[in-house]
Amino acid sequence: MALDILLIGSGGREHALAWKLRQSSELGRLFAAPGNPGIAEVADLVELDPADHAAVVDFCREKAIGLVVVGPEVPLVAGLADALREAGIPVFGPSAAAARLEGSKGFTKDLCAKKGIPTARYRRFSDAVQAKAYIAAQGAPIVVKADGLAAGKGVTVASSVEEAQSAVDDCFAGGEVGVEVVVEECMTGPEASLFCLCDGDTALAFGTAEDHKRAYDGDEGPNTGGMGAYSPSGLMTPEMTERALREIVRPTLEGMREMGTPFRGVLYAGLMLTAEGPKLIEYNVRFGDPEAQVLMMRLESDLVPILLKAATGSLDGIEPRWSSEPAVTVVLAAKGYPGAVRKGTSIGALPPSGDGEIVFHAGTALKDGVLVANGGRVLNATARDADVGQAIARAYALVDRIDWPDGFCRRDIAHRAAG
Ligand code: AMP
Ligand code: GLY
Repeated sequence: MALDILLIGSGGREHALAWKLRQSSELGRLFAAPGNPGIAEVADLVELDPADHAAVVDFCREKAIGLVVVGPEVPLVAGLADALREAGIPVFGPSAAAARLEGSKGFTKDLCAKKGIPTARYRRFSDAVQAKAYIAAQGAPIVVKADGLAAGKGVTVASSVEEAQSAVDDCFAGGEVGVEVVVEECMTGPEASLFCLCDGDTALAFGTAEDHKRAYDGDEGPNTGGMGAYSPSGLMTPEMTERALREIVRPTLEGMREMGTPFRGVLYAGLMLTAEGPKLIEYNVRFGDPEAQVLMMRLESDLVPILLKAATGSLDGIEPRWSSEPAVTVVLAAKGYPGAVRKGTSIGALPPSGDGEIVFHAGTALKDGVLVANGGRVLNATARDADVGQAIARAYALVDRIDWPDGFCRRDIAHRAAG
């Protein structure tokens, strides 16, 4: 029987998920809230505020929604999945208690300590004076992280004690009650991301990727939500993936189960491959953006039954099939991103999608029938091809056919992989 799905979110990640869900033979109707013009090509957009849990539950009841797929972390940390589960509506995404793996760095660090999961040594502080004294005693380089969701901006990798101490001051500057910082040892090594689908018990490896966090070529400039990505990660060999599952992901799921807060959904492990082996940098409780774009471009299996099993049943025995071809996505951002950007600049007609190539919409909107930029990260030129070099060439060929003078992109996405 066809399954009607509601997808929550409006970014490039959600366009990629919607595009892939649409290809399913098991999908009935696809709704998205709030969605974007790209998502509107494959789904019906609904005006629902994901923060209004009662309204989302009412909509799902009215439309007999068989599965809700939550894209971003904010509604998960706010408990949208709990409200849906209490109402008996299947949902792909963790409970608020399980979403603490992303929502609270302190929570995750304590879990790592309890379960012996390799990660940077750390201390938590709720007081600036003590944090600064600890930093002075440890010396630099050292890492300071604000607790709580920070959209990728809460981390300072400080090369001096002064820089680290001033990051601590910034965290406490607001004067809010209950603020915490985590001060960590600085690890070194290449980084890679491992995505795992989880049903509360089992972790199913669901692709690897590497992203590009800095705004400009050569990894210069400020940190962003991600300027491009490729999959698979050459660093995540089958052996490395198995080791990360064994030493990091499975003990995490066990710890969550022991606390009575099992994790269902996608667990995205940001890893540093140090000389001593893989170590956890951080968890996210959702797909990466733009990593989802390259994963969906490579996934050959039907996504609907896989997400439904993760949401309501067991992933035992599921073996997702992936294209052997690598995929690359290049983010086109509005000039000024990650700082202030101008909204409403016009974008010309986008190149049509073809087999193995598509421009996903992220922050776009329609104004009087014209496509305009409506955010920082606006479009994701995404392509798959026989090798990384060809996938890069194909993704940039798409970029070059996009007519948007107010946008910019990095020109070196995936060059690390091409060698
Ligand atoms: P996060 O937001 O936690 O992913 O951190 C952003 C970036 O900061 C990571 O991708 C790493 O490059 C860097 N980072 C975070 N924690 C550490 C650490 N303990 N040692 C070195 N680099 C780190
Ligand atoms: N691209 C990084 C993230 O989604 O957190």
